[in-house]
Amino acid sequence: MQAHRAAILWFDPRADAPAPCYEADGLLLLAPDPQGVQRVQAVGAYRELRAQYPDVPVQHHPGRLIAPGFVDLHIHYPQTDVIGSPAEGLLPWLEHYTFPHESRFADPAYAGEVAEFFLDELRRQGVTTALTFATSHPGSVDALMERAWARGLRLVAGKVLQDRHSPDGVRDQTAQSLVDTETLIGRWHGRGRLGYAITPRFAPSCSDAQMRGAGELAARHPDVWVQSHVAENLDEVRWVRELYPQARSYLGVYADFGLLRERALYAHCIHLDDTDRALLRDTGAAAAVSPTSNLFLGSGFFDHASADRVGFRYGLASDVGGGTSFSPFHTMLAAYYVGRASVTGSGSAKTGQSLAPSHLWWQHTAGAARAMGLDGVVGSLAPGSEADWLLLNPQATPLLARRVAQAQHLEELLFAYIVLGDDRAVERVSVAGAATDGVLHGG
Ligand code: GUN
Ligand code: ZN
Repeated sequence: MQAHRAAILWFDPRADAPAPCYEADGLLLLAPDPQGVQRVQAVGAYRELRAQYPDVPVQHHPGRLIAPGFVDLHIHYPQTDVIGSPAEGLLPWLEHYTFPHESRFADPAYAGEVAEFFLDELRRQGVTTALTFATSHPGSVDALMERAWARGLRLVAGKVLQDRHSPDGVRDQTAQSLVDTETLIGRWHGRGRLGYAITPRFAPSCSDAQMRGAGELAARHPDVWVQSHVAENLDEVRWVRELYPQARSYLGVYADFGLLRERALYAHCIHLDDTDRALLRDTGAAAAVSPTSNLFLGSGFFDHASADRVGFRYGLASDVGGGTSFSPFHTMLAAYYVGRASVTGSGSAKTGQSLAPSHLWWQHTAGAARAMGLDGVVGSLAPGSEADWLLLNPQATPLLARRVAQAQHLEELLFAYIVLGDDRAVERVSVAGAATDGVLHGG
């Protein structure tokens, strides 16, 4: 067993709203399970737990904050090098930068090199669980999964399905794409901490036959994830209306093909109505909210207030490379900006929302895990959960140190990290399935 003493933030894993727990002088006790995965044995006040476990050696981390590893609900590993590509919105961005770049992943050696960088970067930024797109090339999944396996990371990924409205080099063949998906499910899903996601890119890029096939796979493999995009951009929404005139809405297209269910995550969910929101709630599908991407591409604002009013699950995501940063701190801050800028209500009651720092943090940890159906597994540091955890050091920058030192309560402390923090504050990242810890800044 090992024990770590520092300030600790953790969450009640099953709560629908954030229930942050905090100890200024806490103790985290860890022990490996029979598979060698580190699990949380106990978490709480140092004084109480120390008395219960008097013989366990304790590592003391003065001035540091222990927190759950972050969960990124939507990212594209092949777009690592697409970050910062300017365009007139989503569809030109896909055509001019993203599709040409993704065609390079036909080469497994290239895919492997990017996967290596991507996984190291995720971890360096404190992201210990991610749901990621690969490309349409099956080898791009193998290149990533092999390396995630070696690192003991909890990673869910899938081969992109796109058999129409896509250029040569990324367009796949309908029947073969479905065979490849099922082969990859058999090879990777449930292997150690890895999972597979059936990945129709978005409705415009998938024929009816491919969408139907994806829905059949989703029904045959209920514990496999589904990931796609929906209602991101107004031109895209108009296009879907032309392609599927019979559907009630863009989200309704996925419903019609059996692609809304638990463990189905839809990036963006901006241009929805309340019937769509109720559909997400009632099917157990969830939204991957991607604020840096939505700001960068000018897609619009996710409506947090309406999401909470109707009550569907959602969590935060980077959406690299439409998104501009791997850093969960940057994503949380962008979500805060979006809340402020989203005007709800009417007349003089019109107002933006100030999302609480603990709520933003929850959306990127326990709330995101819950959206993936991994509550109690990752994202919370609750007893029994896998021990993916971070050691945050406020001394990373003079300004962060100064602001944290003046925080009067938990919300102020978390907001200081959200507004002023980045990878420099992530001193150590421990991955539950890994043989060794990653100490990043000599801490
Ligand atoms: N819609 C379809 N493909 C993509 C993609 O790669 N990124 C984003 N942001 N939206 C998409
Ligand atoms: Zn995306």
